[in-house]
Amino acid sequence: MPQDSPPSLPKPDDISLAHSKRVAAFIRERIDAAGGSIAFSEFMHHALYAPGLGYYTAGATKFGAAGDFITAPEVSGVFGAVVARQCAEVLTSLTGGSILEIGAGSGKLAADILEALETARALPEAYRILEVSADLRERQQSYLEQRVPHLGTRIEWLSELPAGHRGIVLANEVLDALPVERFVQRAGRVFRQCVTTSNGEFTWDEALAGESLAAAVREIEEERGDPFPEAFRSEVGLAAANWILDVAAALDEGIVLLFDYGVSRREYYASERDDGWLRCHFRHHAHNDPLVLPGIQDVTSWIDFTAIAKAACAAGLDVAGYTSQAQFLISGGLEAVMAGFDSLSLEGQLELSQQIKTLTLPGEMGENFKCLALRRGDMAAPTAFALADRTHTL
Ligand SMILES: C[S@@+](CC[C@H](N)C(=O)[O-])C[C@H]1O[C@@H](n2cnc3c(N)ncnc32)[C@H](O)[C@@H]1O
Repeated sequence: MPQDSPPSLPKPDDISLAHSKRVAAFIRERIDAAGGSIAFSEFMHHALYAPGLGYYTAGATKFGAAGDFITAPEVSGVFGAVVARQCAEVLTSLTGGSILEIGAGSGKLAADILEALETARALPEAYRILEVSADLRERQQSYLEQRVPHLGTRIEWLSELPAGHRGIVLANEVLDALPVERFVQRAGRVFRQCVTTSNGEFTWDEALAGESLAAAVREIEEERGDPFPEAFRSEVGLAAANWILDVAAALDEGIVLLFDYGVSRREYYASERDDGWLRCHFRHHAHNDPLVLPGIQDVTSWIDFTAIAKAACAAGLDVAGYTSQAQFLISGGLEAVMAGFDSLSLEGQLELSQQIKTLTLPGEMGENFKCLALRRGDMAAPTAFALADRTHTL
């Protein structure tokens, strides 16, 4: 252990491989201590967040060309500039307030938003960042110190969700990084997918699902109006639903903007989608085997946005909008943000055009990525949802 990477993946370097071996040993200890197998959600949690070892908690590069994947803020500052316009609307309607960003990655989105809001003379009272990874928190601190040193007094890092937040909560690609339960339907019963070891490798195992997972799967089946077919396998984001309950409890008044790849529940649990929505990333290669390269590959799952909206509504928020990333950007002011395009060099224009394509084209990030806006209070929905709101699909 760790397993070799599948033949189509690039070979990890020796340092990464040695690190992955340590992560695998850590997980194997947990499996042994649990009597031979652990839930997949626990495996995913350790692979991503084991203290000092996990993919997010150790020092892997992760984002950008030298890492494993690229997120919208890393693709282009245009993303943050449009998000900033939505933030400005909310801050204006609340006549004040702060921004809370959860899972801020490299700190790029925070810097882009702060710069745009400063230009628009609409800075928030504070820009708060909640980050679980000590390594990323350090990277965010040095990046922001370099990009916006004069705004340092407005930026603060939190160790837990605050009480009584007023303003905006942002999370780009955080929901997909929360561990999911995996289930499989067998002879009308729900089984939980687990991870065990065999001949020194991690392999799949199953056990009858506990109450909360079985109840969640039965509820989804009832909504489908049709039992899942035999051997249907998928994920349930119990941690994501709990996470949004906590976020809702922290928000006194304002808007939560969640960006991620995902679909409505009807699409998520369609009969033909019978092997779920797990996605792993290693050096810009996407595949669906989460059991290889523990600790050095990203493991994610697409989002059932209906589940997030339902949990949020149960916690007293309402859905202010749901749309694709492309529509969010177009309705939210992409054209205005591009106003200086003609004054760029030809090279600059080509580069920016390519970035916009990546953010908006349906085959790139434009359609798979969605934005869900949740609201507490009676402010208007941000204009980014004005042209193509798909809330009715949730
Ligand atoms: C896929 S990265 C996205 C980073 C960044 N938002 C971006 O778009 O580039 C996921 C981020 O969420 C953080 N994270 C995961 N779970 C978290 C949690 N429960 N609370 C706060 N941050 C979390 C990770 O450490 C990481 O910074």
